[in-house]
Amino acid sequence: MDILFTQAEIAQRVREIGEEISRDYAGSSIVLIGVLKGAAIFLADLSRTITVDNTFDFVAVSSYGRARVSSGAVKLIKDIDNPIEGKHVILVEDILDTGLTLSYLRGLMLQHKPASLKIATCLDKPERRLVPIEADYVAFKIPNRFVIGYGMDYAEIYRNVPDIRLFPEELAGH
Ligand code: PRP
Repeated sequence: MDILFTQAEIAQRVREIGEEISRDYAGSSIVLIGVLKGAAIFLADLSRTITVDNTFDFVAVSSYGRARVSSGAVKLIKDIDNPIEGKHVILVEDILDTGLTLSYLRGLMLQHKPASLKIATCLDKPERRLVPIEADYVAFKIPNRFVIGYGMDYAEIYRNVPDIRLFPEELAGH
């Protein structure tokens, strides 16, 4: 599968975002909330490039026919473990696609009254958006191509591929 972003390119962008976050939150601490499972690897790397204190938590959601159904029902399967009231929170995603997942999660997290709430995503596919939502920190904007690796899967495999690769369109069912 052709490489879209190499390990080195990913590491460089993650470092840059980590530095930006460290500047933006200088003197405070952050809670990183990863959306399972895709975001696990990006979160693991990002957290280690951030020089201000940061802790992590994870949520899991299930979505129904996300690509086809514009109602985009999203259901929470696993909630955060620790309270985030009054804390600076960054939701961490591997990919921002239609935006339905992050819109839902943002609404949910805001109910917990964090001091602030931002979004960091490894990949952003702006042309796929169904609801208006933007990330505050984006490693790479990409066109509407199916990608795997660096946490992203095809039928649960390839998450461990260290670079981000293009999955063949004819196999992706596009
Ligand atoms: C992917 C990704 C986001 C969501 C983005 O998750 O991790 O959570 O889709 O899509 P959206 O912007 O259209 O809502 P997926 O359901 O593939 O689960 P995974 O993270 O376990 O791979």
